[in-house]
Amino acid sequence: MQTETPATCAFQGTTSIAPSRQPEDRLIVALDVSSAAEALRLSSLLIGRCRWVKVGMELFYAEGRDLISRLQDQGFCIFLDLKLHDIPNTVAAAIRSVAGLSVQILTLHAAGGPVMLAAAVAEVKLLPQPPLLAAVTVLTSIDQPQLLSIGVPVSPQEQVLRLATLARNSGVRGLVSSPQELAALRHTFGPDPVLIVPGVRAAGSLADDQRRTATPGIAIRQGASLLVVGRPITRSADPARTTETILAEIAMALDE
Ligand code: C5P
Repeated sequence: MQTETPATCAFQGTTSIAPSRQPEDRLIVALDVSSAAEALRLSSLLIGRCRWVKVGMELFYAEGRDLISRLQDQGFCIFLDLKLHDIPNTVAAAIRSVAGLSVQILTLHAAGGPVMLAAAVAEVKLLPQPPLLAAVTVLTSIDQPQLLSIGVPVSPQEQVLRLATLARNSGVRGLVSSPQELAALRHTFGPDPVLIVPGVRAAGSLADDQRRTATPGIAIRQGASLLVVGRPITRSADPARTTETILAEIAMALDE
């Protein structure tokens, strides 16, 4: 399926999404490490290879704001994966607190509910350089038994669609799901949402704690805008080479 993706950091300060056929625009490398030194060692290997890095809780809590500006100085677009989930007032305040970082994408949990989502959307609209908000639906580490154990007696796909609908109706443009729900999300919402998928693994490689996975090629063919890949790259003996291999698979899928 043909989808639209952002041009270089195009989310920031704009609502337009320019189509990109460049594999390097479609990969976000999750820098899930706990020191600035290790993050910058990895990011240095990625310069000129990919455009996006993800800073999540582990790195942000350890190294914070300074590290983000150093990654920006290296030329990276930033996916700040803080997965905000709190009362509306606190989430809006948290968005104000990270506004100065000028990141391109910021995550929050759709399960925070419609009032929280609407408060986040309203807050982001006040910013001079608004990040794209992306709502996490069902974590890629959650399978059906785990969903049941938290009191949700439906399939992961049903729950993803329910939370995605909630997020879209609240004005959130980005959605985070596993690759396995991509086709249903594109079928339901069409080309507009920016669909971001972790849980990306090469065929036959370790799933780690991820439960709902697919290969980079399948994820692109199913309509992903952006793929998030962490451990397969960061724990690789040769992160640069692994990145190139994933980009080659993305390129092949984009060419089809
Ligand atoms: O190492 P791996 O490729 O599994 O990393 C996936 C990254 O995507 C992690 O940083 C994780 O926090 C994030 N993520 C996820 N599932 C979601 C949302 C984010 O795995 N639903």
